[in-house]
Amino acid sequence: MHYLITGHTGFKGAWLALMLTQRGHTVSGLALDPAPGSLYERVRLSTLLRRDLRVDIRDARATLQAIVALEPEVVLHLAAQPLVRESYRDPRATYETNTLGTLNVLMAVEATSSVQAQVIITTDKVYRNVNQIWGYRESDPLGGVDPYSASKAAADLITQSWMRTSGSGVPTAIARAGNVIGGGDVCADRLMVDLIAAFSSGQSVHIRNPGSVRPWQHVLDCLHGYLELTDSLLRGESSGEAFNFGPDTDSFVQVGAVAAAVASLWGEDSVVEVDAGPHVHEAALLALDSRKAELLLGWRSRISFQEALAWTVAWEKEIRTGGDGRAVSLAQISQFMSRGVRRRV
Ligand SMILES: NC(=O)c1ccc[n+]([C@@H]2O[C@H](COP(=O)([O-])OP(=O)(O)OC[C@H]3O[C@@H](n4cnc5c(N)ncnc54)[C@H](O)[C@@H]3O)[C@@H](O)[C@H]2O)c1
Repeated sequence: MHYLITGHTGFKGAWLALMLTQRGHTVSGLALDPAPGSLYERVRLSTLLRRDLRVDIRDARATLQAIVALEPEVVLHLAAQPLVRESYRDPRATYETNTLGTLNVLMAVEATSSVQAQVIITTDKVYRNVNQIWGYRESDPLGGVDPYSASKAAADLITQSWMRTSGSGVPTAIARAGNVIGGGDVCADRLMVDLIAAFSSGQSVHIRNPGSVRPWQHVLDCLHGYLELTDSLLRGESSGEAFNFGPDTDSFVQVGAVAAAVASLWGEDSVVEVDAGPHVHEAALLALDSRKAELLLGWRSRISFQEALAWTVAWEKEIRTGGDGRAVSLAQISQFMSRGVRRRV
């Protein structure tokens, strides 16, 4: 089938495009320019795509024209400003991209007769965070203190409203996942990226909020969830629904413990120090309950927390010792797909 990924020049989008092309699908992409040293560049993604477009989704007209002309059969909407701290620096651009940008994509898809399924990617941060120790369920109230979380909660609500009122008839669902890690991420302000950048240049790293708990998940587990949800839509199931895709409970780990584990995997006398702040508000405790995806989609995480760290460090080390980005990434995808689901811990 012909898949359109918005945000294919980013971290998740590039992995997703690779997974889909490896499965034999045709893929087009619509996004802004890739960041220097991005996964998109490392895997030479443009050579695998039918069309590789630079479109700002804040521009409704350009988004409409591009999607109508592409005639995709499936749309996976990932394009976003995805960083909490950047959302404090530039709230307007964050809100415009994440809310109106999402509406522009939904409206363009409605005007495109070829689309048989679309998945809108939001985040675990859409839930009203009450620092509960158990995971959020899809029926929990949405909210968001920082501009990023609020903008994604708004995008989620826009999509829910659209699914009920637009009358477009395109099977649509929402996917909410948490902090993903994996090789090739270059977004500053993300723990794993900051750790590897510092360790690979022989510098000590300063982490903020070492006591914050996050659900750490390998990017392939999360993307596999998106694709299981897409397949469900194509079978005529799951439309109008939201699904969480979080890791097993052994992956709910404090930031400080993640930093220590990565330092140990990286070796070479890696040093971690705590940056006492002050810092802008970020949720201290965030966990997802993914039993709906397990029960209705048959999805389960395949990679443990320790393996997720090890696969990420292995990818980054292979690239730094001359490994080919596409070959290393496709090998990890093949390894992932050959696995069964993990036993619940
Ligand atoms: N990485 C994570 O840990 C994580 C966690 C939860 C949710 N998400 C969500 O997953 C999606 C992908 O995140 P990512 O980590 O790959 O981010 P990323 O920053 O690596 O990629 C973002 C992509 O969106 C595109 N984009 C940004 N603004 C745009 C605009 N105005 N018009 C068109 N394209 C635009 C970029 O060009 C890029 O291709 C986002 O929706 C994000 O909110 C990510």
